[in-house]
Amino acid sequence: MTVMRNIVILTGAGISAESGIATFRGPGGLWEGHRVEDVCTPEALAADPVLVHRFYDLRRAALRDVRPNPAHEALARLDREWSGALLIVTQNVDDLHERAGARRLLHMHGALNQALCAACAARFDWTADLPPGTPCPTCHAPALRPDIVFFGEISYGMDRIEAALAEADLFVSIGTSGAVYPAAGFVRMAQACGAATLELNLDRSEGSGWFDESRLGPAGQLVPAWVEQMLSA
Ligand code: OAD
Repeated sequence: MTVMRNIVILTGAGISAESGIATFRGPGGLWEGHRVEDVCTPEALAADPVLVHRFYDLRRAALRDVRPNPAHEALARLDREWSGALLIVTQNVDDLHERAGARRLLHMHGALNQALCAACAARFDWTADLPPGTPCPTCHAPALRPDIVFFGEISYGMDRIEAALAEADLFVSIGTSGAVYPAAGFVRMAQACGAATLELNLDRSEGSGWFDESRLGPAGQLVPAWVEQMLSA
């Protein structure tokens, strides 16, 4: 039997659903009432910066009213107690993994609580509203924008993610529809490098057939049970 040492975990909107944060592809395919292309593309930001900045201001403000759920807490426990390599790669822009205590964490699609300067690429922690034209504290250009990876932009941390996948014994995907690349391709990258693969999701994702095993149900139940299994093995 393979000894499990190195784990890569991918999370998506489904892990935060039980905390009360809407998923992206819910009923009607709208994200909080908007088409994704109207609030999550460089073209949308250029065409209507007031709408796009306001949209992320509202998502950022909503973080104050939500709490990590048992799935975030279980992954934070795994992060604390797992002695092998571990990387939690999240597509989520909320801060619930870190508020639960996860440290070995990478936000591949950016973070609501950060601002990015479009002029000098400096990043800043940011918890207040961020109107268009806000000056960059470093270069003073009026160019701060939400630090969100829009469609057509390059996901963060790909070198680190690919290196972790190459060494992984186990890849686990939690609460993601498998509709957005490059994250949707991680299962095949991990498999090509010899990792076992497990999906924990409410229903079958688009890439479900690629996984060695799929466990279907709410993350708040499935994730704590899986973490307990890993730590007691
Ligand atoms: P989606 O909204 O596409 O998918 C969420 C998945 O979570 C679905 O498969 C649901 O069935 C599942 N789900 C819902 N509730 C759940 C629960 N309680 N427990 C477990 N699973 C549950 O969200 P993502 O896959 O994260 O990109 O979307 C990927 C990316 O598309 C996002 O990061 C975002 C978006 O456009 C950017 O912002 C760049």
